[in-house]
Formats: sequence, C-alpha cells, structure tokens
Amino acid sequence: MSAPDLVVFHARITPCSDAQTRMGQIGQLHTIPDGALVVRAGKVLRVGDTEQVLAETTLGPDTELLDAEGRALVPGFVDPHTHALHAGRRIAEMQLRQEGKGYLEILQAGGGIQETVRATAAADDAQVIRATRRRIGEAVAYGTTSLEIKTGYGLTPEREMHLLRLLGQVRRRAPVTLRRTFLGLHAWPLGDIDRLEHLAAMNDLLGEVAAKDLADAADVFCEDGVFSAEDTRSHLTAARAAGLAIRLHADELRPSGGAELAAELGARSADHLLAATDAGLQAMAEAGVIAVNLPGTAFFLHEHPLQAERERQAGLRAALATDQNPGSSPTFSMPMVMSLAMHTAGFRPAEALLAATRNAAAAIGLEDTAGQLAEGFAADFLLLDDSDYRVLFYAFGMNPVAQVFAGGRVLAREGRLTEEMRQWIAS
Ligand code: NIG
Ligand code: FE
Repeated sequence: MSAPDLVVFHARITPCSDAQTRMGQIGQLHTIPDGALVVRAGKVLRVGDTEQVLAETTLGPDTELLDAEGRALVPGFVDPHTHALHAGRRIAEMQLRQEGKGYLEILQAGGGIQETVRATAAADDAQVIRATRRRIGEAVAYGTTSLEIKTGYGLTPEREMHLLRLLGQVRRRAPVTLRRTFLGLHAWPLGDIDRLEHLAAMNDLLGEVAAKDLADAADVFCEDGVFSAEDTRSHLTAARAAGLAIRLHADELRPSGGAELAAELGARSADHLLAATDAGLQAMAEAGVIAVNLPGTAFFLHEHPLQAERERQAGLRAALATDQNPGSSPTFSMPMVMSLAMHTAGFRPAEALLAATRNAAAAIGLEDTAGQLAEGFAADFLLLDDSDYRVLFYAFGMNPVAQVFAGGRVLAREGRLTEEMRQWIAS
C-alpha cells in the first residue's frame, strides 16, 4: 500500500459522520479533541486520535505533515443550491424592494429574473464562464468545496441548452466538485407564448439533457404566480422518467403545494419552504425529501421565520445553501448563511454544521462521497481559525476559514486563493 500524501494532526476534528441526521434527533456532534486525518490519492484514508494514528501510519518520504495546533477541522462545505451561472448584478432592484415593491411584482413587470436573462444573453460566453468561475472562487475562499449550479437565465429551450453547455465548460478541470441542475422552468419567457406549447417543449428537452449527460437534476420555480403545482408535476415527472434527480423551489412566498408535491414525486429536495404548510413538511419528512433552507434569501427579502423549529417538529433532514443569485441572495459565503441559520432561523450549531455538510451533500446526490470525513470520502476539509467550530456562527460576516482543502489539495489560505485555483479561474 502506498504511503499517505498528507497527515494533518493535533486538530479538533468534527467528522459529521454521526448517525442522526434528522432535525429533532441531532444532539452534540461527535468530536475528536486531538485528532489526525490521513489523506491518500485525494481521499480520506483514516480519521482518529493523533497519538494512535501516528503510531499506526507508515509515512513515506513525500508525506506532508501539517500540525493544526489544536484548531477545529470540519468537512468542506457543500452548497447545494446556487444560480451562479449568469452575468450582471441587480443592485437597483434591492432598493426597489426596500422601498416596498414585491419580488414577484418586479418579476411580473419584466424585471428581476428577466433582467438577468437579458444581461446573460448580452454577455459573451467567455465572460459568463469567467464570471461563474470567479464566483466559485469566492465560494471556495469561504470554505465551499462542492457546489450545485443551476441554469435558469435562458428560459427558452435553445438558451437553456446553451447554458447547460456553458456549465459543462465551467466544470472542466474544476478543482472542486460541481453538480449541474437544469432549471428551464425558472420563469415564463417574455412575449406572446403559448404556455402549453412552451411546457411541452421544455418537457421534450429533458430526454436529451439526460441522454447527453448535461445535467444531474431538474428543478422548477414552483410558486403561485410563476409555475403552478400542475406545471411542476408535468415537468418533473418527465425529468424523473428521463433519469434525472428532481428538486423544487417550493413555497417560497406563498403556500403553493410545493412541499406536498415534492413528497408525492419523491424529490431529492424541496428548497425555500418558508411558506410551506406543516402537513407539507410532514409529508416531505415521511418521503425522505431533504429540506434545503436558504436563510440568506429570507434575510435579503426581509423574512425571518423560525424555520428550524418547524423542521424539528416534522423530523426533516435539513440542509443549508446560499441560493447565490443576483436577485434574492448575492452571497457566496456558507459561514454567513450558517450564522443566519442560527441567529434568524433558530438552528443549533450541530444542526447547522450537519446541514452545511453531510445533509447538503445528500441534497445533491453526493452523500456517499462528500460532506463527511470518513474512510473513502473525498479529502475535502477546512481548518478554522479557532479550536471551536462554533466560530462559524459567531464571527458573522467574517471569514473564520483558515485553510481550504479539496481532494487533499489546498485551494485557499486566510481567504486568499492559491495559485492553482487562480489559474483555473483564468484558464
Ligand atoms: O431561488 N426564486 C427563484 N429563483 C431564485 C432567484 C432568482 C433571481 O431572482 O434571479 C431564488 O431565490
Ligand atoms: Fe434558488
């Protein structure tokens, strides 16, 4: 057996491989006070007590040793919901909302998502790819080592297919794990379209998307005033038949039957859920659908329900994501989202850490490879700048991630990207 590539020792390790993953059942997370992590070929070979691991591991001449000096070590964050593939910003819209205009009101007047559709269409492909890679770089600097990216700023079949191809280019040689979601039903295209024909055309695309391996999952913005539960059912049933995993933007602003539909269809996740009914959340828990919480969006749209308690009552598996997008959540920072989860949505530290790692991985089909530090999992991990992982919730808005490792390689230190990461962005 070849020698390890890297051994990190004297770290306070929280592996997030605990058995309990449902809200209401999560207590303290298992932590190894003086732990070591052994990495070989990009994967975790062993996690254990420093003294024991060092005594039992044969180091090679090239094995790198890293003394963590007692700092906290946690899995890299998994961001299971972003809209990072786009051009442009929407700063003026933020002020409009502050002055009382509604998010959907702006969209229905041809702004919001439509504004980003126009900006993305107007940009060169190379610009969109570069901007998206930069955003991934920002996420990495804050500890994200796996993320999902959706299409959704194309809206027509042709433009959405084009965005999927761009996403494929973004992903090329990526030093982090990227998952791709087709969000063709993000908004209705502007102009005089026949809605039934449009839906049929979008449904017809799904076979090609799956056959050419252009996406891993399909998603729909299921919301009263956007895509109804009926529209969503027809699209996601077609997606499932094509072999794609399915997910929903569900009940963000009004109860729209999204949580119930996610349970009925066996979706991998339902996301947002601020306006979901208790019965909908209950049905999701029974069907094993993961609740993806987006507290950055709630914050930016000025809504702060204590969602964690409702999810505990339902016994849901909860994940956290940035929802990174130019309209409702322009942040890339998982630590910021985790702070918001704790201080505005009522998550406890153990729940929030599990929601940003292991449960988030499950929401994007990475449960067996990422999100926890156990033998055979990706060597994606973070060294924090404190021995207590709760610094993640405490230092809100700051970056308490001292070093970011993906596949055993360092991608950022003290918030600065390494040369390898910078070169990939520029390539
Ligand atoms: O998840 N709700 C719909 N989609 C995004 C926002 C997209 C946008 O405003 O550009 C969301 O919040
Ligand atoms: Fe979203």
